[in-house]
Amino acid sequence: MGRDVIIACDFASAEKTFEFLDKFTGRKPFVKIGMELFYAEGPAIVKEIKKRGHKIFLDLKLHDIPNTVKKSMAVLSGLDVDMTNLHAAGTKRMMEGALEGLTRPDGTRPLLIAVTQLTSTDQETMEADLLIKEPIDKVVMHYASNAKDAGLDGVVCSPLEAGKVHETCGEKFLTVTPGVRFADGDIGDQKRVMTPAEAKKIGSDYIVVGRPITAADDPVAAYERCIAEFCD
Ligand code: C5P
Repeated sequence: MGRDVIIACDFASAEKTFEFLDKFTGRKPFVKIGMELFYAEGPAIVKEIKKRGHKIFLDLKLHDIPNTVKKSMAVLSGLDVDMTNLHAAGTKRMMEGALEGLTRPDGTRPLLIAVTQLTSTDQETMEADLLIKEPIDKVVMHYASNAKDAGLDGVVCSPLEAGKVHETCGEKFLTVTPGVRFADGDIGDQKRVMTPAEAKKIGSDYIVVGRPITAADDPVAAYERCIAEFCD
């Protein structure tokens, strides 16, 4: 699968989401559905977006005992999503269970991506709250290696970490990177950002872009600009 731009559909209702997606009359973007929208609208929103011809990254970040995650992943796989995720902190056994649950009877399955350390967690918080004393980049690479060992397809990471993840886990191990902004755009609450062109150069496989597209005056033009910078 080649590089692609995933739009983070961080809307609170189906109505707002469809109002946004209706603007895309040409190419149907790959969209990310997160907890807010999924908890508000349930599986019906996933089925409806799929029916409209979009690929879907269902970003629910599962983290529970292996058996529960395995069974929950089987349900998500039945929704015919293209990509979903979990927390690598749930252990290799949980990730292996997830893969098993996700695999359909015909052997196909959505891509499975691990969250390593959330970008909202810094060194200080990790040490104080989680009692993990190793350097955070070492922890991120260790979690990425665990995900690879468990058979997962890749990790969500900062575009700044994408190169190192590929060095550690191989070129084929996918990096899905949020924190993308246009060179002339507003950074908002993101701290470490990259342009789509820089993310391409550093080797991201997928960029997840929210507000630079969803809050743009012309979201379709902003999306096409991302595609031109990142994919073409
Ligand atoms: O609007 P913006 O482009 O900042 O949206 C980025 C998307 O990626 C949001 O849905 C956010 O929750 C998600 N994300 C992130 N950083 C992470 C993991 C996910 O920004 N480490």
